[in-house]
Amino acid sequence: MFAPIGLIAALLWSVAHGLPTNDLPLSSSVLTSRISPSTRQAPKYWTPPMKSNIQFILTGIPDVDDNYIRPNTGIYEIDMFWTPAETISKMKQLGQRTICYFSAATAESWRSDYKNFDKKDLGLELPDWPGERYLDIRRDNVLKVIKKRIDLAASKGCDAIEPDNVDVYSNDNGFTPAIVPSDTVAYLHKISEYARSKNMSVGIKNCIEILGDIFDDVDFAISEECVQYLNCTVYSNFTTAPRPNTIGKPVFEVEYVNYTYNGEWSDDGVALSPSSIRTKNVNFPGVTNEKLRRKLCNLDQEGVTLEKPYLKINTVIKTLALDGFVMYCDGSVEKTNTKDVEGQTGPKVEDSRVGKDRRSWAREMVWRKMGGRAVDP
Ligand SMILES: *[C@@H]1O[C@H](CO)[C@@H](O)[C@H](O)[C@H]1NC(C)=O
Ligand SMILES: *[C@@H]1O[C@H](CO)[C@@H](O)[C@H](O)[C@H]1NC(C)=O
Ligand SMILES: *[C@@H]1O[C@H](CO)[C@@H](O)[C@H](O)[C@H]1NC(C)=O
Ligand SMILES: *[C@@H]1O[C@H](CO)[C@@H](O)[C@H](O)[C@H]1NC(C)=O
Repeated sequence: MFAPIGLIAALLWSVAHGLPTNDLPLSSSVLTSRISPSTRQAPKYWTPPMKSNIQFILTGIPDVDDNYIRPNTGIYEIDMFWTPAETISKMKQLGQRTICYFSAATAESWRSDYKNFDKKDLGLELPDWPGERYLDIRRDNVLKVIKKRIDLAASKGCDAIEPDNVDVYSNDNGFTPAIVPSDTVAYLHKISEYARSKNMSVGIKNCIEILGDIFDDVDFAISEECVQYLNCTVYSNFTTAPRPNTIGKPVFEVEYVNYTYNGEWSDDGVALSPSSIRTKNVNFPGVTNEKLRRKLCNLDQEGVTLEKPYLKINTVIKTLALDGFVMYCDGSVEKTNTKDVEGQTGPKVEDSRVGKDRRSWAREMVWRKMGGRAVDP
C-alpha cells in the first residue's frame, strides 16, 4: 500500500531533479546518497554495477576469435594466468569487463611464479591436491609475489581482481601461531590498496566472517551457494549501506546444478528451448527445473521479482565445472564459446590443472557443509 506512494514520490523527486527515472524504485538511502555527493565519490577505476548478470569462465578461456561473445552480460570472471591479454582486450572491445581470478593465499606448483615463494611462506599441502600449499599471508615475501600477480593482472588489462582463498584462517594450514581472520583483513587491505592504485577494483569471495571488516577494502563480493548452505542474509549488510556514509556494494551469487538438455543451441550458444533444460541439485532432490531455478534465485521469497532481487543479490546458476554453461534467473540459458588454454599440452595435464582451480571453489563448499568451521584433522 505504501510502496506505490513512495514510488510516485521518488518519481516526482527524480523528475524535479532531472534524474533518469528508469532505475526506479529508488530506496530512500540511495536518494540521500545522491543528494550528498561526498558519500558517493565514484572511484576512478571500474566497479561493477549493483544489478547485473555475470558469467564465470574458469575452465578454458572465452573464445573470441570470431569477434563475438555470449552472453552479453558486460562482466566476465576469468582465470588471470590462463587468459591472454589479447583475449581480455578483445572482450573489452566487445563490451565485456573482466574480473581476473587468481589464488592469493595458496601456492600452486605449476604456476610460473611458484619459485618466487620462500620455503617459509609455504604451509601444509592441501589435502588431495598435491602441489598446492597454503601461504603464510602475514609474510612480506608472500605480499611481494602477490603484488607481481596484481601487476600482471593490470598489464593484461583486467578491470578487477578476485584474490581467492584468502579465508586461509578457516583451513588446517600448518602455521603457528595460527592465522586469524584479522590477518586476512590486514592482508586484503594491502592487496586492495595496491590493486586500486593500478586502477582495478577488488572482489572478495565468501569470507563471510569478515565481510563487515573488509567492506571498505572491497568493491564487490562473490558468494557461492548461499541458498544451499547459508542464509543469504549475511549479505544484506553488504548490498545496503552497512554504516552511515556508505552505500551498498554488489554481490554476485553462484548456485550450482547438474543439467541435461537434448535440445538445440543456436550458433551463438543460446539454448533454443530453455524450458526443456532439466536441472537438479543434490541438496534439493525433490525440487527440479523451474522450481529449482526459482528457489536458487530466491524468487520464492516474499515480494521478490526479477527486477527486485532478494537482498539485491545477483544470482547465476552454473555447474561446478565453471565452464561455458550459465542459466540466469529469468530462465534463459547460454553457453559461452570457450577454448583450451594455449601452451597446455595433452588433455590430461589440462584436465588436472582445471580440476585444481575448480577445486579451490569447491573446497569452500565442503567447508560449508561442515557447518562453516574448519575440520579438525
Ligand atoms: C582507469 O579505469 C577507468 C575505467 O575503466 C578508465 O576510464 C581510465 O581510463 C583508467 N585510468 C587509467 C589511468 O588507466
Ligand atoms: C535468514 O535469517 C533472517 C534473519 O535472521 C530470518 O529473518 C530469515 O527467516 C532467515 N531465512 C531462512 C531461510 O532461514
Ligand atoms: C548487520 O550489521 C549490524 C550492525 O553492524 C549487525 O548487528 C547485524 O548482525 C548485521 N547483520 C548481518 C546479517 O550480518
Ligand atoms: C552433480 O552430480 C554429481 C554426480 O552425481 C554429484 O556428485 C554432485 O554433487 C552433483 N552436483 C550438484 C550441484 O547437485
